[in-house]
Amino acid sequence: MKILMVCLGNICRSPLAHGIMEHLAKERGLNWEIDSAGTGSWHIGQPPDHRAVSIAKKYGLDISNQRCRQFSVIDLDSYDQIFVMDETNLNDVLKQARNDQDTTKVKLLLDQQIVPDPYHDDELFDPVYRMIAAGCKAIIEWELKHKQKSKP
Ligand code: 4NP
Repeated sequence: MKILMVCLGNICRSPLAHGIMEHLAKERGLNWEIDSAGTGSWHIGQPPDHRAVSIAKKYGLDISNQRCRQFSVIDLDSYDQIFVMDETNLNDVLKQARNDQDTTKVKLLLDQQIVPDPYHDDELFDPVYRMIAAGCKAIIEWELKHKQKSKP
């Protein structure tokens, strides 16, 4: 399965989601391909924000090799599922959807809440990390329960 994590800048939340999901999928022996992108273009080519890199490191993940790229309509063809962090990301990605198949691929990472933008608040990086990790775990559990079973 190919999963794309999307936020606004692709330097804080989606690089964390990318690193966490990649790690968890590997741990479970799932051959999933994970990437991330931002709806904005400000940080293209840059590594993740240093605060995202440090919080990932605190939890044992190295996300420093990731580089920012911008989301494009081609991603709706290339990925099976696209997870966004908040309603703004959701609207920005859905604006580019061309049909129902595109629309159904796009979901909020968390069911009941948004993942807040931590860019202007250093204190948010830790809770944001934990929210994203919980969301990624829930997706993996759901997939293992519902989808993998049907495979031979
Ligand atoms: P992210 O955070 O969407 O979690 O990567 C942001 C990073 C940068 C900006 C906004 C949000 N920015 O406006 O530059």
